[in-house]
Formats: sequence, C-alpha cells, structure tokens
Amino acid sequence: MYVIFVINYKGGVGKTTITANLSTELAYRGFNVLMTDLDP
Ligand SMILES: Nc1ncnc2c1ncn2[C@@H]1O[C@H](COP(=O)(O)OP(=O)(O)OP(=O)(O)O)[C@@H](O)[C@H]1O
Ligand SMILES: [Mg+2]
Repeated sequence: MYVIFVINYKGGVGKTTITANLSTELAYRGFNVLMTDLDP
C-alpha cells in the first residue's frame, strides 16, 4: 500500500487538481485508490 500526500499551505495552487488527476491515472492503471481531503 502506498500513501501519497499532496500538501501546500497556500490556497489555489492546484492541490485538488493534481490529486484528482493522479488518483484517476492510478485507478486507470489498476490500483485501488482511496482519495480523502483533509483541507481545514
Ligand atoms: N497546472 C495548472 N495549470 C493551470 N491552472 C491550474 C493548474 N492546476 C490547477 N489549476 C487551476 O487553479 C485553480 C485552483 O486549483 P485547485 O482547486 O486544484 O487548487 P487547491 O490548491 O486545491 O485550492 P484550495 O486551497 O482552494 O483547495 C483551479 O481553477 C484550477 O483549474
Ligand atoms: Mg482544494
């Protein structure tokens, strides 16, 4: 199991966009993906 964090304190820098695209690609390649958002 791999755990990947996409972290940056600044807002609007692309965290959600990168996370969604990375998750989609990993799922497309056959990984079981759980994506969670811990943004306060
Ligand atoms: N690589 C990129 N090139 C151009 N625009 C981008 C890129 N990544 C994200 N964006 C755009 O920047 C905006 C903010 O992106 P996103 O919502 O992913 O950032 P965020 O870090 O998750 O923001 P927040 O802190 O508000 O959750 C969106 O309009 C998105 O389409
Ligand atoms: Mg976001």
